[in-house]
Amino acid sequence: MTHRVTGTYRTLAVGEETIKAFIPHPLPPRNPPLVIDGRLAELHSTACAAVGRLAVAGVMAPSADWFLYGFVRKDAVLSSQIEGTQATLMDVLTYEATRKPDRPADVQDVCNHVDALTFARAEIARSKGLPLCTRLLCMAHKRLMHGTRGADRQPGIIRTSQNWIGGSRPGNARFVPPPHDAVPKALDALERWLHDDDPLPPLVRAGLAHVQFETIHPFLDGNGRIGRLLITLLLEHWGLLTTPLLYLSLAFKRHRAEYYRRLLDVRTRGDWEGWTEFYLQCVRESAEDGVGAATRLFALLGRDRRALSRHTAATVTAVRLLDLLPEHPIVTLPRAMKLLATTKPTAGKAIDALSKAGILRETTGRQRDRIYAYDAYLKILREDTALPAETSAGESGGNR
Ligand SMILES: Nc1ncnc2c1ncn2[C@@H]1O[C@H](COP(=O)(O)OP(=O)(O)OP(=O)(O)O)[C@@H](O)[C@H]1O
Ligand SMILES: [Mg+2]
Repeated sequence: MTHRVTGTYRTLAVGEETIKAFIPHPLPPRNPPLVIDGRLAELHSTACAAVGRLAVAGVMAPSADWFLYGFVRKDAVLSSQIEGTQATLMDVLTYEATRKPDRPADVQDVCNHVDALTFARAEIARSKGLPLCTRLLCMAHKRLMHGTRGADRQPGIIRTSQNWIGGSRPGNARFVPPPHDAVPKALDALERWLHDDDPLPPLVRAGLAHVQFETIHPFLDGNGRIGRLLITLLLEHWGLLTTPLLYLSLAFKRHRAEYYRRLLDVRTRGDWEGWTEFYLQCVRESAEDGVGAATRLFALLGRDRRALSRHTAATVTAVRLLDLLPEHPIVTLPRAMKLLATTKPTAGKAIDALSKAGILRETTGRQRDRIYAYDAYLKILREDTALPAETSAGESGGNR
């Protein structure tokens, strides 16, 4: 394994204790440089091929947003679950369908995550919008931290105090990020490197950027989620995907202990190779999972379309509603009326037809305010999003 020095330590006094805060060297890895050859080159080409297949799966759907709605939310749920948000995909989708006012904070976390991504993509796409830069990440962070829980975590603001990862105080932390006065310079260097030419392949660069961002840990909270969002934005920015279909948080959550260890090893041993190997495997795993899910969702919709067309209760509006379900897999009557721009009886008949064909299921058992779910679709989308049996405050206890 290659050893290299990836930064310097600054000794600081915090209360009675002396701590060593780590200031990373700017990217790219140097002395020696990171070289993508041998096994890494193989992993890189397999990961790229998997991402390419995911891009193809995305365009095979009749509407560009068919998988996007579900996959973006799946990533947001998984990214939030990595350190303990208790919301499930069903909680989030049900909230989006009903907009009930008593939204739990965990559901808000995930909705904020989706909002942060949507905002950042729109900003980058807008001709006069911000490019992918520190300011944009701050604005995304502000959205991520929106609401009661994030209010005291300085939403949208680069931290002005020392933070730490793992442990109850900086003195016993697993990792102490740079002192706050070193953060702006480190972020500037990262931003510059993102817009510089670098011979490393873009997929690898997005992974390095994530590590560097986590090492700088520029915010009081939400660094993991914004750092994972950064990968998503970079993959689109560098043209590897045209929409954020890769739910990479799936693999980071599955291999959480290794994810943290690999981040740590970059600092302690300069092991960029080990990180890159892990990250490329995660990209491949998540992309293959996405391709599998997209293929099954696509097949399911085809089957359900045929089943509906044979059903005596079928109406033209019911077929239109079925086509809208991938973006609205949970619906209510008012929402169906709005989506279809139609009357209550017509929307009611469409829901009825889909229920009789076994496509929609009423979930509440109530006579009023009924909620219908596209069960078979949700079953595929929800795979691997169940909450872990136990969540530990674990590695980043210092700043949650
Ligand atoms: N040893 C480490 N070195 C650098 N970064 C780390 C290390 N261990 C964990 N991390 C990163 O720190 C993140 C946690 O930081 P923070 O609490 O600010 O983010 P967050 O988005 O609020 O995550 P969470 O929901 O994970 O609390 C992890 O998700 C991971 O990306
Ligand atoms: Mg946190």
